[in-house]
Amino acid sequence: MSLRIGIVGCGGIGRTHMQAWITAGYRPVAVCDAIASVAHSLAPLSDATVYPDAATLFANAQLDIVSICTPPALHAELVIKALDHHIAVLCEKPMAMTLAECDAMIAAATRNQTLLSVGFCHRYQPHVEVMKSEIESGAIGEIIMFRNRFAGHMPHVEQRWFSNPALSGGGVMVDTCVHSVDMFRNLIGDVSRVHASAVTRTTTLGPALQVEDSAIITLTSTDGVLGVIEASWRTPPGEWVVSVYGTAGSLTLDYDTMQLWHCDVHGTKQQLAVPDGDRFVNEVAHIAACVREHTDPRVSMADGRAACDILERAMRSAQREE
Ligand SMILES: NC(=O)c1ccc[n+]([C@@H]2O[C@H](COP(=O)([O-])OP(=O)(O)OC[C@H]3O[C@@H](n4cnc5c(N)ncnc54)[C@H](O)[C@@H]3O)[C@@H](O)[C@H]2O)c1
Repeated sequence: MSLRIGIVGCGGIGRTHMQAWITAGYRPVAVCDAIASVAHSLAPLSDATVYPDAATLFANAQLDIVSICTPPALHAELVIKALDHHIAVLCEKPMAMTLAECDAMIAAATRNQTLLSVGFCHRYQPHVEVMKSEIESGAIGEIIMFRNRFAGHMPHVEQRWFSNPALSGGGVMVDTCVHSVDMFRNLIGDVSRVHASAVTRTTTLGPALQVEDSAIITLTSTDGVLGVIEASWRTPPGEWVVSVYGTAGSLTLDYDTMQLWHCDVHGTKQQLAVPDGDRFVNEVAHIAACVREHTDPRVSMADGRAACDILERAMRSAQREE
């Protein structure tokens, strides 16, 4: 069964989705962007038709699946419109700006019996898949702690929608920690306690923002595993690392080198073999398979909402700290 794919929002991640769909063997047939020239620069990659806006695209392109790749403020409205046209949706993270929006999106997917998944791409990263199976096999014993730092420097963030709370819903917590929170839920389990601290200030890299540029979130799982999440837009050169520590060793994934290491109780390190694969290609291929086979996606609507819920609690905690 050939599938008709569309992309709404043709900026940074829209381009990544286009390339992923093509690599996975699909040629998106329809694109649109609020800035027409941006859509026209992406469309030739798959000879896609450029539509003037999302409503026209949903009504006319006869899509099976759409990638929603706009800033978060547009997610709920666009996703609900797509679902009401019975188009399956892969919505970029974060799922939405509020839990009420998440609930409205879930209601739309349910009443239309149409797939809705959220772009937690790290779940499809082969290294993370190996980490998960190692944890589940007991390779590092009983899990005690989790640590994830996704941090670097986002140049000129003060000039982009990322730092405009009306479009983003928040700063680095919403943008980056949303991946980390889902990583914790994927590798460790459900969250019971949430605590956070966040800052923004004028530095040599730019002015203070209306949203936080650096944050720490601590999580406690329902099983008592402790997690530390660190994120920043203003700490060059950057560090992208996730570690899980157990009673019989630890696992560390370094995204800079794309190496996964196992460390045993004696401190002996061994690099683990990981199958080839790109997380975005694996993600879209999975969504296509779910639509073809009428199966549930790996990232559920509830997963998308749960991450938003934890972030809301983290933001409230950080505000209490001020
Ligand atoms: N999964 C990941 O690793 C990852 C990485 C980057 C961004 N994202 C997410 O993807 C989304 C987009 O981020 P980005 O970095 O691509 O931003 P971007 O600014 O590069 O692109 C967003 C595009 O959406 C367009 N747009 C805005 N309103 C629109 C509308 N109503 N209809 C159609 N197009 C519209 C803009 O003109 C812009 O071209 C955000 O939710 C972001 O958090 C996810």
